[in-house]
Amino acid sequence: MTKDKFTVTAALPYANGPLHLGHVAGVYLPADIFVRFLRMNQHDVAFICGSDEHGAAITLRAKKEGITPQEIVDKYNKVIGDSFQQFGISFDIFHRTSAEIHHKTAQDFFLKLEEKGKFIEETTEQYFDEEFQQFLADRYIVGECPNCHNENAYGDQCEKCGSALSPTDLINPLSTLSGKKPILKSTSHWFLPMDRHEEWLTAWIQDGMLDGEKQHEPKAWRNQVIGQCMSWINNGLKPRAMTRDLDWGVKVPLQGADGKVLYVWLDAPIGYISATKQWALDNNKDWKDYWTGDRKLVHFIGKDNIVFHAIIFPILLKDHGDLILPDNVPAYEFLNLEGDKFSTSRNWAVWLHEYLERYPTKVDELKYVLTSIAPESKDSEFTWKEYQARVNNELADILGNFVNRALVLTQKYYEGIVPERGELTQEDERVLEAIASFPAKVSSLIYAYKIREAQSEVMNLARLGNKYLADNEPWKLQKTDPKRVETILHIALQITANLSLLLEPFLPSTAAKLRSFLNVALPVWGEIGNPGILVAGHKVNTPEILFPKIEDSLVEAEVEFLKQSQQSNTTAVNFPPQKPAVSFDDFTKLDIRLGTIIEAEKVPKADKLLKLTVDTGIDVRTIVSGIANFYNPDEVVGKTVSVLLNLEPRKIRGVESQGMILMAENEAGELSFVSPEKEFGAGGEIR
Ligand code: MF3
Ligand code: ZN
Repeated sequence: MTKDKFTVTAALPYANGPLHLGHVAGVYLPADIFVRFLRMNQHDVAFICGSDEHGAAITLRAKKEGITPQEIVDKYNKVIGDSFQQFGISFDIFHRTSAEIHHKTAQDFFLKLEEKGKFIEETTEQYFDEEFQQFLADRYIVGECPNCHNENAYGDQCEKCGSALSPTDLINPLSTLSGKKPILKSTSHWFLPMDRHEEWLTAWIQDGMLDGEKQHEPKAWRNQVIGQCMSWINNGLKPRAMTRDLDWGVKVPLQGADGKVLYVWLDAPIGYISATKQWALDNNKDWKDYWTGDRKLVHFIGKDNIVFHAIIFPILLKDHGDLILPDNVPAYEFLNLEGDKFSTSRNWAVWLHEYLERYPTKVDELKYVLTSIAPESKDSEFTWKEYQARVNNELADILGNFVNRALVLTQKYYEGIVPERGELTQEDERVLEAIASFPAKVSSLIYAYKIREAQSEVMNLARLGNKYLADNEPWKLQKTDPKRVETILHIALQITANLSLLLEPFLPSTAAKLRSFLNVALPVWGEIGNPGILVAGHKVNTPEILFPKIEDSLVEAEVEFLKQSQQSNTTAVNFPPQKPAVSFDDFTKLDIRLGTIIEAEKVPKADKLLKLTVDTGIDVRTIVSGIANFYNPDEVVGKTVSVLLNLEPRKIRGVESQGMILMAENEAGELSFVSPEKEFGAGGEIR
């Protein structure tokens, strides 16, 4: 049987911010598992990704950070690319849409369709910001959603009710640039008449039929994907502009199109093609082999990308005429975080690069947990508590424990030599049969894009092994029936060996560790399931602990960190985030009281310092304070202020300071005394 060939893409992330776990769980990790599995099965496969560097997502972010769009995309292309690499997402190429080859590819694609008459050029009225003298991209317009009356809907979409919008649908539109009401101004654009494509799209999506031929198996598509597409089509597709009035993007390659660029959702999916071209150039291949003929094109995406990958891009590909359409578009639902939606603007997120910085040795732990909760058929949720529970109860207690027992006992009884398999009990026979049945079960799940279930199936083999050892208790039998123990451990080792192979797509570094314990190589998938991979006499190594337990303190710290980073983002960004909690006991150690300043003078050769004489109600003492830029000596005398009395005395410029005056600082960095609001004198305690 010839093997299917695949071109697998993962949605090009916008280079406007780092990746969070929602992106990873619902696109990149499942795509990577799928591809690693295909490679083990000797499919010819290209795994393509890159960053999406155009569109309002980028220019808006640039405005927010106060740097140029080019600086934004350079920065985040690197952050994102580095995290993918560290996390072990095995793209064949991670490219970018700002690359020259991409601009050329997208322009040629556009021209080809234009020459074939696939667009209609039309003059329409678009919103224009008079103050900023520019047309407004959809994302630059906010207003009230006509469907759910959310007042913060964008010109292309209402995030509350999920409906797709045009800027002119919005009630009370406002420009996000000037905050003013935009005017309508006429401009001409190239539209894709999507309404003309409804008929073939319906046949293709619902029945898998393309030009009278079976092209894909619609049963293999997720219900939500078919459902969403059909609801769009049944509501009637409208022509959509494929060009925009913007200065950031791929220039429209036509005369008289100055100031116009390709619509980002036209240019970005073509990024899959240009990335393939670059990869082919680098590897002495022909890119066309990956976009034509009997090859399966698979797009891993999040559900908000369905319309672009299952309707718009297929129309473009079909209009183009020489290229294949997707065989499947596995779309993922959303991952939530600790009871709320991931939100970049509220900073409610676990960022991949931060996780990797904090836990560089826990890559497979994260992979395992994210796959276990992957939002394949419905939205799901990540919590640190569940992360801990899954690592401890499943990875450590089931997988780690089983592997460790099998290998440690082998060292202890046989100095690491795989023992002979003797006479088999009925249970042994059943276990050996079960081992042989796993590869087929796991592969049919993966081919059906049920990756979450596939991983849990592999874990069932570890469960089986754990149970087999617990039921047979070789550590007890060793005294009375050592012959029997040889068979038990022989079988336990075969299970371990099979695990080291089946786990490879999911947890590649754990699988590699296991193989190094066992001294075995990675075979192709078809050789897995052999209940005799390890022959008697083979020498295995001493294992190490695979998964250290996750402590409660990690969970607490992470939850705290999340809350704080959110707080720090909700107020003006110039104030530092809240500090870690202190106990009440610690707080009461500070002796803070009201003190009245009775004398003040400048400290020679120290511009910022005043030497103050302060009546604290219990004594009179000297305190040096860095406030000279904000207060003159004569204006401070007589003021009652807050003083930390029991700060250890320090010498400042030769003067011993016995305490500290507490100051408030505003956003501009100016200092002010903190004084009682009533006429209180010296001595009162502050608590
Ligand atoms: N950048 C888009 C997003 O993050 C995805 C683009 S996928 C592509 O939603 F096909 F257009 F490249
Ligand atoms: Zn709405």
